Amino acid sequence: MRFSLAGVQLKFSAVRETEGGLTIPAEGVGGSWILKLPSSIYAGVPENEYVMMELARHLGMDVPETALIPIDQVQGLPNEMNANGMSTISTHAFIIKRFDRNANGEGIHIEDFAQVFGVYPESKYKYASYRNIAEVLWAETGEKGIVEFIKRIIVNALIGNGDMHLKNWSLIYTDKTKAALAPAYDFVSTIPYIPNDKMALTFVDSKAFASLTYEQLKRFAAKTQLPQALILDVAQKTVTAFKQLWNSIDSFPLDKEIIKVINQHLATLPLLKE
Ligand SMILES: Nc1ncnc2c1ncn2[C@@H]1O[C@H](COP(=O)(O)OP(=O)(O)OP(=O)(O)O)[C@@H](O)[C@H]1O
Ligand SMILES: [Mg+2]
Repeated sequence: MRFSLAGVQLKFSAVRETEGGLTIPAEGVGGSWILKLPSSIYAGVPENEYVMMELARHLGMDVPETALIPIDQVQGLPNEMNANGMSTISTHAFIIKRFDRNANGEGIHIEDFAQVFGVYPESKYKYASYRNIAEVLWAETGEKGIVEFIKRIIVNALIGNGDMHLKNWSLIYTDKTKAALAPAYDFVSTIPYIPNDKMALTFVDSKAFASLTYEQLKRFAAKTQLPQALILDVAQKTVTAFKQLWNSIDSFPLDKEIIKVINQHLATLPLLKE
């Protein structure tokens, strides 16, 4: 069973109050934040997502504003989901600023890659690969989108996120006609919950995290007809920056057990040895 199916993790659109709390509007619409409650079975998912998004931000990726918010500061939750019911799993929820709303609360069009490829949501792990996403990004967004794409591929392999499926990548149409790669979302280290997890989609000819080597990146560049030097350069710089950042992981609010699992995972990756 996949991560997202294995436990309920409810999401709401919410309004942030000036006092720091958060309100879920009764109509279920509106709000410029997305609130993700703790998973009903996996421990520490909000903290995990918060830290993975912070790592991405430190590595220069395009990451919306986020926060961990105590569940008892969330107004308007259905009674069954109040702080008492959730606190055994996690005391905090993860919130992220919506990038599909402008400062006036008006909608900005986004399109995830299941929509781009006309694939049903339930087929988000099938029918398309990272190559297909990269080719669209290269054609529609050029170097900027591809640089961000390679950073995300590398970092999610390093943290062991096996959930970067078609719906976790989107295009955004901020100026109505021109597409850009939407900001990052849903970065979670899945290996603490799914031991031996793999990449959500195929990269060249494999889904194994350990298959992501510089040789494999060269093959990816050849297949997608992307500039090899650029891809290798971005990948190398991302790996180097990640290694340095990971040395300070103890200063992030991440569970020690999760750090241990990621350390074991990192030891299996040729990327860090080359
Ligand atoms: N910051 C954001 N701004 C706008 N839309 C967002 C944002 N974060 C997530 N979304 C949208 O909401 C959807 C669900 O969010 P997210 O992927 O974080 O949740 P999830 O339940 O973990 O998803 P999954 O099914 O991948 O496990 C995303 O596919 C995306 O379309
Ligand atoms: Mg998602």
